[in-house]
Amino acid sequence: MNELVLPNDTNILGNILGGKVMHYMDVCAAMSAYKHARTPVVTASVDNLDFLAPAKMGDIICMKSSVNYTGWASMEVGVRIESENPITGKIKHTGSAYLTFVSLDDNNKPKKVQTVTPESEDEIRRFNEGEQRYLYRKNRRNNF
Ligand SMILES: CC(C)(COP(=O)(O)OP(=O)(O)OC[C@H]1O[C@@H](n2cnc3c(N)ncnc32)[C@H](O)[C@@H]1OP(=O)(O)O)[C@@H](O)C(=O)NCCC(=O)NCCS
Repeated sequence: MNELVLPNDTNILGNILGGKVMHYMDVCAAMSAYKHARTPVVTASVDNLDFLAPAKMGDIICMKSSVNYTGWASMEVGVRIESENPITGKIKHTGSAYLTFVSLDDNNKPKKVQTVTPESEDEIRRFNEGEQRYLYRKNRRNNF
């Protein structure tokens, strides 16, 4: 997903607002989850998000997302955000995050999703790491 950073979305330094990046990230990740589940999905949680480098007005933000791991009804989606200066072509890693989406049935109750099948080395690594994070989140919620 690509977006041009426009003046209305920047702070007084000309950097994109963090909240705007989070919005783009949520939409980008939701599309991956939506296409995997083929049902309506909701964002259940976002893991910690570090802004590594600012995207400036006039840059192009490029976001890539993939379903890393599936539980019964939940999906962990990883998003990587890069910003490109279209004049110089320089690309910066702006941030990355993991979001969890839940598939819903017609009554807005959690619905089973198809298990994601990792194939490449990277997909298998992401799947295994995603499972650890899924268990960690579950454990954290149980201790609320
Ligand atoms: C997310 C939501 C559907 C979960 O419903 P629930 O009845 O609590 O569901 P359960 O406890 O049975 O959990 C269902 C799945 O969601 C996962 N889940 C629930 N809360 C979660 C959270 N905070 N973070 C990550 N995963 C979560 C569970 O691990 C479970 O996954 P699994 O089936 O793969 O094991 C419900 O809390 C909700 O609707 N929240 C609001 C979502 C929303 O409106 N988001 C937009 C922004 S406000």
